[in-house]
Amino acid sequence: MSESIYPPSPEFSSQANVPSMEAYEALYEKAREHPEAFWGELAEKELHWFEKWNHVFEWNPPFVKWFAGGKFNVSYNCLDRHLATPRKNKIAILWEGEPGDQRMISYQELHRLVSRFANVLKGLGYKAGDRSIIYMPMVPELPIAMLACARLGIIHSVVFGGFSAEALKARILDLEAQLVITADGGFRRGKEVRLKDAVDQALNDCPNVKDCIVLKRTNSQIHMQEGRDQWWHEIDKDASEDCPAVPLDAEHPLYVLYTSGTTGKPKGILHTSAGYLLQTTMTMKWVFDLKEEDTYWCTADIGWVTGHSYTVYGPLAAGATSVMYEGAPDYPAVDRFWRIVEKYRISILYTSPTAIRALLRQGDSWPNSHDLSSLRLLGSVGEPINPAAWEWYHRVIGKGRCPIVDTWWQTETGSIMIAPMPGAVPAKPGSGTLPMPGIIPEVVDFNGNPMGDGKEGFLIIRRPWPGMLRTIWGDPDRFKEQYWSRIPGIYFTGDAARRDSDGYFWILGRVDDVMNVSGHRLSTMEVESALVHHPAVAEAAVVGKPHEITGQAVCCFVTLKKGDWDHDQLGKDLRQWVAHEIGAFARPEEIRFAESLPKTRSGKIMRRLLREIVTTHTVTGDVTTLEDINVLSRLATQHDED
Ligand code: PRX
Repeated sequence: MSESIYPPSPEFSSQANVPSMEAYEALYEKAREHPEAFWGELAEKELHWFEKWNHVFEWNPPFVKWFAGGKFNVSYNCLDRHLATPRKNKIAILWEGEPGDQRMISYQELHRLVSRFANVLKGLGYKAGDRSIIYMPMVPELPIAMLACARLGIIHSVVFGGFSAEALKARILDLEAQLVITADGGFRRGKEVRLKDAVDQALNDCPNVKDCIVLKRTNSQIHMQEGRDQWWHEIDKDASEDCPAVPLDAEHPLYVLYTSGTTGKPKGILHTSAGYLLQTTMTMKWVFDLKEEDTYWCTADIGWVTGHSYTVYGPLAAGATSVMYEGAPDYPAVDRFWRIVEKYRISILYTSPTAIRALLRQGDSWPNSHDLSSLRLLGSVGEPINPAAWEWYHRVIGKGRCPIVDTWWQTETGSIMIAPMPGAVPAKPGSGTLPMPGIIPEVVDFNGNPMGDGKEGFLIIRRPWPGMLRTIWGDPDRFKEQYWSRIPGIYFTGDAARRDSDGYFWILGRVDDVMNVSGHRLSTMEVESALVHHPAVAEAAVVGKPHEITGQAVCCFVTLKKGDWDHDQLGKDLRQWVAHEIGAFARPEEIRFAESLPKTRSGKIMRRLLREIVTTHTVTGDVTTLEDINVLSRLATQHDED
């Protein structure tokens, strides 16, 4: 197969933080041969410590500690240490609301706002180790709340504003949070997303929540519960602006972020402090080639890990100007992204293949009517980017000038693992290219034996890395079982991949029952358990179906309880039901009613066959364990009749 290769231009390389393949290889070799020296030196140079660590890392598989014994604070590293430098008056957060309102918050101002809000939390009695849930729109108070928690050591869990009250409740209960930070609502496509209503509904079943702080954003009518709910602007107005960052253990938990696994119950991925911040900071410099004068925009919502690591923690620790936008990319028109790039002279743009494909479909005239000449680097994350979308991004958005960094990583990995260093590593559209220093990925078979170049297998990571998840909140057994038992002692990513003869990695997608819809991870089981809660549904099987824009779409096979059902209406109801149970982003694309589902003789639904039906419309795989072969032919014919 012939493939295009895009080497960095000499102009880009000559100014890059990592300017050549030799420079990349030297970093990679040093990290591989001398990990303690490599990470120890960077930790000392790049971060502020209240007290130095005893050991760079301690590895008791599958548990790791980085910089144990060190005293550290993430909020201090993102704010205070910049105040003694010229960054003091640099814009830290450059924000635009969907209606067009703007805020530009300098490092100095952000430090003041965070300190004030941290004092509010302290005044309410919260301290290191307590847990808060943050359920907010994309407004500056979201990172302010995160950094205020981090300042005191309160473990935060941001719940994406698109999640439903049910999903929010499950997270509050699992985390045993006592504090919820939210807003009346946010703006999306010109409409209000009524966050506080969802919080009220969730809190009906969360007796442990003592306090709920509510930011006024949309100014709409909401219910405030006496004794529990307080307005942000009221409790914040007289708070002191002096709130020293608490020196915490380097391994103090920073946040829990829930993500979908292979069961119906989301996993609370736990990240800790110093190792996480070191790796997010370094990847800002290595992958995004960050310079002091850059205006950097990661379009991800902070409710997902990309927003945590690359809108908040990485950029602020690296002293960047991080752009935040509240709303939808197509509001009021499909050129909103390009307007923002032009208006703020964005130099680094980091977005998802789904967004790229959706914008590509609108035609070149939208981006072409804006001045995008400030861009110098483009990034992609969350799902495989197909070469056609890559080429368009490169040609129409980057005008052939800007390198593209296709970054592979996961909620669990905390920061970018495989991506080109743009001044050093030639890109191949569709490949994440080469691993970051300190990351040792490999493609292996079921027994952990390396596959030869060009062969597909499971992607694993051989050694612990600073930003890796430490456990699953409240469930260390699931942590061991999920990531470290498939091939004992080795991190199992859940992705299939192959490596080519240049050592480049090509990610082929998930090998488990996890779908990737618009770059958002969603478990088939989660959708199935939502469906079977509906009174009409007897059984459900859910698979991801290839989709031109969103990568995958949710396709549900459903059998019904006895009754006289109107399939058209019920199909609509069930789509709405899933949106209500999980969140609008999980709304199925398709509901197919079936008399029965293909099962093994022991009664297990054979999703593999359903996946084949929705992907190829035929079944070629092994069906010897299938209970009733006729079920399959009926399901396949049903499609032909559609
Ligand atoms: O399958 C991979 C895919 O997204 C999964 C991780 O999802 P999540 O934890 O939600 O994090 C998304 C943002 C980091 C991976 O297991 N994935 C992520 N980035 C890429 C990707 N697949 C291909 N190429 C990528 N660049």
